[in-house]
Amino acid sequence: MEVVILAAGQGKRMRSVLPKVLQPLAGKPLLAHVLASARALDPRRICVVYGHGGEAVRARFDAPDIVWVEQSAQLGTGHAVQQALPHLSGERTMVLYGDVPLIGASTLARLAAAAGRGRLALLTVELDDPSGYGRILRDANGRVTRIAEEKDASRDERLVREINTGILVAPTDMLRDWLARIGNGNAQGEYYLTDIVGLAVEAGIEVLTAAPGDADETLGVNSKEQLAVIERAYQARAARRLLDDGVTLADPARFDVRGELFCGRDVEIDVNCVFEGRVELGDGVIVGANCVLRDVRIGAGSRVAPFSHLDGAAMGEACVVGPYARIRPGTVLGDGVHVGNFVEIKNSSFAEQSKANHLAYVGDADVGARVNIGAGVITCNYDGANKYRTEIGDDAFIGSDTQLVAPVRIGRGATLGAGTTLTRDAPPGQLTISRARQQSYAGWTRPEKKK
Ligand code: UD1
Ligand code: CA
Repeated sequence: MEVVILAAGQGKRMRSVLPKVLQPLAGKPLLAHVLASARALDPRRICVVYGHGGEAVRARFDAPDIVWVEQSAQLGTGHAVQQALPHLSGERTMVLYGDVPLIGASTLARLAAAAGRGRLALLTVELDDPSGYGRILRDANGRVTRIAEEKDASRDERLVREINTGILVAPTDMLRDWLARIGNGNAQGEYYLTDIVGLAVEAGIEVLTAAPGDADETLGVNSKEQLAVIERAYQARAARRLLDDGVTLADPARFDVRGELFCGRDVEIDVNCVFEGRVELGDGVIVGANCVLRDVRIGAGSRVAPFSHLDGAAMGEACVVGPYARIRPGTVLGDGVHVGNFVEIKNSSFAEQSKANHLAYVGDADVGARVNIGAGVITCNYDGANKYRTEIGDDAFIGSDTQLVAPVRIGRGATLGAGTTLTRDAPPGQLTISRARQQSYAGWTRPEKKK
């Protein structure tokens, strides 16, 4: 089987400079979702029909299994499929749409099975309000006879509630023959792909229909409003899957996955969290409200308190991060590490039991075990041109408001007095302090304003 994805529509109603099929759904372009479902069927080739100015689409998705075909003028869905025909040599062709992103691989597999060999299979659904869609017309025996587009349909035909989703599987050689014979003498002056159904029936080819697993799957995107509806449908499904797996979601409607989320047992996720990229939460992990987690791995029993932003980090077991923590790429936290409010960590490692509980910046540092980093500590890792590392030995105590001017090393068990500006290495086990001596002046008086 080969797949043709129609994606030439300009999507004017999106009112965006971004081509429609590049608009994001759950953090990925619409077309990426369709391609993923298509690839799950393991087709020989995927042919994407793109429109004028669609080079951005091509650049974004170029891959060896995709053939790109430009349809410069949009003369209809039949014409669009025709553009792909010279590139098709398989036995069967499936037609999908770049702006129908929720279509599932299992629905497509079912449709392909219904088509079998030598038959035409259409994906159809019954809608309470079928307006705008092509209607599936059947004879007295329930056999499909043709599809009537809304604009061409009679009053009686418009009463039919079974509609054409547009998705179909056809024998390629017959498709070639049928498409060569369709015309554009209809209400819209377009070459309708749907006209192949009448031709199949005329030729005595069986036309079968299949329904999607979920009616949402065939929703199309033409406006930002429809995109928002589809986004919620996608997220609702993702939430349902997690709930089925035993994850506690404070509110399934206030939860967004824009990538892949893997959860262990008894994970709890509070409201308004966003998960991007690949996120793994170990057993018993608790994520507080309003957190954004991107490409992170969190060990069992750890807790992320509200309003934390974690990106590109790995965390051990029983850690506590946040509230209001910012963890940036390249951060690795050992077991039992505590990171508190307004602490930023970048490209650094913390060994087990170390703490930075308040207001600190730790960048390009290797922090040993059981280290205490006080409030207001800053690694001065950047001299305006280069970045340097800071090494802190096990059991060190870094007093508040200390600047660690990298490159610099702090020995095991060292103590840095509050307010120190450390420019040279601090020896292990000693107190190091750089601070002007405190003095008090008895008899000193404040200046007074001149008369
Ligand atoms: C089409 C079907 C209709 C079905 C409906 C489902 C036809 C004639 N009608 O109607 O039976 O109920 O979809 O949504 O097929 N496209 C191209 N090139 C073109 C024309 C369209 O690539 O020349 C693409 C569009 O980008 C879009 C899709 O094909 O993704 C459907 O085109 P559209 O014009 O929206 O079809 P409908 O009129 O909605
Ligand atoms: Ca100071």
